[in-house]
Amino acid sequence: MIRACVIGWPISHSRSPLIHGYWLERYRIDGSYTRQPVEPSSLETFLAVLSEAGYAGCNVTIPHKEKAFDLVTAADETTERLRAVNTVFVRDGKRYGSNTDGEGFINSLQQSAPGHSLKNSRAVVLGAGGAAVAVVNAILEQGASEVVVANRTMEKAELLKQRFGSRVVPLDWSKAADQLSECSLLVNTTSLGMKGQPEITLDLSRLDPVAVVSDIVYVPLRTKLLVDAAERGNTVVEGLGMLLHQAVRGFSLWFGPTPQVTPELHTLIARDIDPDYSS
Ligand SMILES: NC(=O)c1ccc[n+]([C@@H]2O[C@H](COP(=O)([O-])OP(=O)(O)OC[C@H]3O[C@@H](n4cnc5c(N)ncnc54)[C@H](OP(=O)(O)O)[C@@H]3O)[C@@H](O)[C@H]2O)c1
Repeated sequence: MIRACVIGWPISHSRSPLIHGYWLERYRIDGSYTRQPVEPSSLETFLAVLSEAGYAGCNVTIPHKEKAFDLVTAADETTERLRAVNTVFVRDGKRYGSNTDGEGFINSLQQSAPGHSLKNSRAVVLGAGGAAVAVVNAILEQGASEVVVANRTMEKAELLKQRFGSRVVPLDWSKAADQLSECSLLVNTTSLGMKGQPEITLDLSRLDPVAVVSDIVYVPLRTKLLVDAAERGNTVVEGLGMLLHQAVRGFSLWFGPTPQVTPELHTLIARDIDPDYSS
């Protein structure tokens, strides 16, 4: 039996076991994927014995993504840039790290807004936290000419510019609405709009009608930002797509097949988030 798990602290909220469990069944693989609560002081030991404990690898979530980067033998180019790991896999007894959040974001965007190209485009990203690092890097890798990063704490937006170069333009949070007229993609990467958090208050009146609006928050499935954008006629991309697509590479690395993000999987996880969800 092939075993994988997700580690975090806390971890009880993770929907990854449901996603990988669906694929294990669908591809008839003799495998398991479990949640493992790992507190920060135990991370190094847990990863050191990952292979001996019988795991082919694991997903890594909050608060371990940055520390896990320091604890893998090697990482791919994108992950080296992000210095954060969400997927660990074992090969020949060595641990390798990958970060699949960026490809999850892009593949979800392509699935929900087919034909939308980021090449030479201008994007506005709200937030400069952990998820924003992966999203901003992914947008730049797609060839965007400018990524405006608006964050409450301006210093963190400045750090993204230092990290990724002059195509990143830090912006004061209060000025975000002024930047919407010429952007082809607006993304929320803050925790605003998430269940239990305040809503985003952003005036969308200047937003280009053909701009795509994406929110990586997935509880609720459709945030107020997305509801408002859809009412104006903009194409919207829900955060659940990113969650599903970021899981693909890990499954393939541990279990073999490259799994599909199907409407059936989408509905399964959407119903777990909102029992009243209907596709
Ligand atoms: N769909 C997916 O697959 C996926 C993947 C990863 C994360 N997420 C979601 O993305 C969200 C952010 O995660 P993260 O790991 O990046 O968190 P994080 O590192 O803690 O960053 C939080 C971000 O939200 C901003 N923020 C928080 N409260 C705010 C407020 N009251 N006003 C303005 N800005 C505020 C922070 O600004 P400051 O810098 O000023 O504090 C920061 O930019 C979470 O909801 C998470 O569930 C989704």
